[in-house]
Amino acid sequence: TKPKITVIGSVNLDMVTSTERVPNQGETLTGQSFEMIPGGKGANQAVAAARLGADVHFIGRVGDDPFGEILLKNLTENGIHVDGVEPVTGEHSGIATIIVSDRDNRIIYTPGANNLVTPEYVEHFLPIIDQSDYVVLQLEIPMETVEYVTGYCYENGIKVILNPAPIQPLSETVQKQATYITPNESEVVGVNASTEQLIVTLGKDGVKYYQDGEERIVPAYTVEAVDTTGAGDTFNGALAVGLAKGWSLEKAIKYGNAAAALSVQKFGAQDGIPTVAEVEQFLQARGE
Ligand code: RIB
Repeated sequence: TKPKITVIGSVNLDMVTSTERVPNQGETLTGQSFEMIPGGKGANQAVAAARLGADVHFIGRVGDDPFGEILLKNLTENGIHVDGVEPVTGEHSGIATIIVSDRDNRIIYTPGANNLVTPEYVEHFLPIIDQSDYVVLQLEIPMETVEYVTGYCYENGIKVILNPAPIQPLSETVQKQATYITPNESEVVGVNASTEQLIVTLGKDGVKYYQDGEERIVPAYTVEAVDTTGAGDTFNGALAVGLAKGWSLEKAIKYGNAAAALSVQKFGAQDGIPTVAEVEQFLQARGE
């Protein structure tokens, strides 16, 4: 049977402008290209888990603009159950304005409807949460919702992966109650969770975790990166699938690394997210 994963989080339309460099203050630059691509940390993680074979439910909200329909359709086309997605009247869908330059990515995230993923909203969908092997959370929805869900899952013995992105202070309680917390190098600042809960993604340097009080590293796969947007999301979705299957932490992290390595080879947050077959082929080609 497929592992059951519920992702509670953001769904955004990514407005991606590619440019050689970012403009200076007051300067207007001519960009190179523009694309509108489905994104949002929550949706990206849900798409990753679904493509990697999990039975995925998404709990979130879209706006009542034309983008909302596009985003909802995209989730459905990826085989994700959207009974937990209700449009918000009078709000725009979540938007990420992304500048991809030769040097780096810069993102402005405007939540819109994602701000209405409140504890009261999520409460309607507790039966979905109750049936999950893993619940996956990020920080593009209100913090009180993250705290509510983590608390509920803790009390009911449901495992939670909390991806603390974008960076925000976390309460002691959330840090105690989440099963795993998965910051990147910059987000790990201020995370006080016990080392047994911590999984730190280090980009090219792999992933750090702790077992029996010892620090361990699972190395990253070396690939030619085209666009790293959504690499962390792909890792988290894949990690959830591996852990929900009962794999060891090391094996699940390795799987996440492989999925992330494949994802950065294509432009856009979701285009490169691989399927089960693609990850298996990738690992086989490396003799693993
Ligand atoms: O993690 C990448 C995602 O973060 C993008 O898809 C964008 O929506 C931003 O919020």
